[in-house]
Amino acid sequence: DKANYRHFMAKEICEQPDVVGRTLAHYVDMRTERVALPIKLPFDFSNVRRVTITACGTASYAGAIAKYWFERLAHIPVDVDIASEFRYREAPLRKGDLALFISQSGETADTLAALRYAKERGAHTVSVVNVPTSTIARESETVLPTLAGPEIGVASTKAFTCQLMALAALAVAAGTERGEISVSEERKLVSALIEVPRLMGAALASEPQIEKLARYVAKARDVLYLGRGTSYPLALEGALKLKEISYIHAEGYAAGELKHGPIALIDENMPVVVIAPFDGVFEKTVSNMQEVVARGGKIILITDAKGAAESAIEPVATVLLPDMAPTFAPIVYSVPIQLLAYHAAVIMGTDVDQPRNLAKSVTVE
Ligand code: F6R
Repeated sequence: DKANYRHFMAKEICEQPDVVGRTLAHYVDMRTERVALPIKLPFDFSNVRRVTITACGTASYAGAIAKYWFERLAHIPVDVDIASEFRYREAPLRKGDLALFISQSGETADTLAALRYAKERGAHTVSVVNVPTSTIARESETVLPTLAGPEIGVASTKAFTCQLMALAALAVAAGTERGEISVSEERKLVSALIEVPRLMGAALASEPQIEKLARYVAKARDVLYLGRGTSYPLALEGALKLKEISYIHAEGYAAGELKHGPIALIDENMPVVVIAPFDGVFEKTVSNMQEVVARGGKIILITDAKGAAESAIEPVATVLLPDMAPTFAPIVYSVPIQLLAYHAAVIMGTDVDQPRNLAKSVTVE
């Protein structure tokens, strides 16, 4: 039931501090501030040479963000692929490799086929799934649940941020087991994760401002989303969310790719949503924003107080989020991205929870 919300999507966006917190509590020990996976993995991360992450759509963007975490925190090389490509590419997998699958429904046909392919080749299979009784959950060697609860809106929101939370905990566990991070570093990372639900609550407070910005975005024919590092896959997710529910054309790009093509699109009619917490690549994103402004592009900057002070450009609007450890910022920055798509769709008058041509669970390829 929608409670007092107009759409399931709005309800599911607002539930995120709760359900992400519930997922967090399933993966960490709040008292010791250490990761405590709900299940013992049948392998040791020290022996894993390579991880492949396979999923579709929004779940694949969760995987693309997790790639940065696994590589930075655990120094494991990670390949991320969409399941419809992975399953037919004859990707070499070796016994003992880790094949990770991410799926809200646990029924996506391509992801399931990719899982079966990996199993046949002797890889360890771990699935991050939201529906514990699903086929992908049943057929995986290890299941890591997300505790998002039923997601009714076709556009994934809370399942995505719960996937990120579970993957973040797994990446920290991998880093510790491989000796790449010390116990005190682990505690620091886990305490940053413990902050996330509260920060998501604070991010929800940006809703009235985002609603106004959505009126501006809803007038555009095309919208560009830019980000670097973990904000890059989030830019892809922002563009997907906007197009699937508002039917406004949007593209996500790595900010550094701008000058390799998409900059040709920029003019005064083009809103450019820049996702840029004040992190290690912030300065680089600033130079990309300058390139956009120099061509008349209109920037909506999503950042924190430090980023706003250092951005050296005049955005048409700045959405200010609280200060936080940049590593896990994408979980919190998902909130304004989702709200922007949601309000743009409401303004466009589309069927927000049941967008045309889309199904919640894609059980055919
Ligand atoms: C987008 C969306 C889809 C799904 C994709 C995978 O908002 O919901 O892109 O993420 O179809 O579905 P699952 O996670 O059920 O495998």
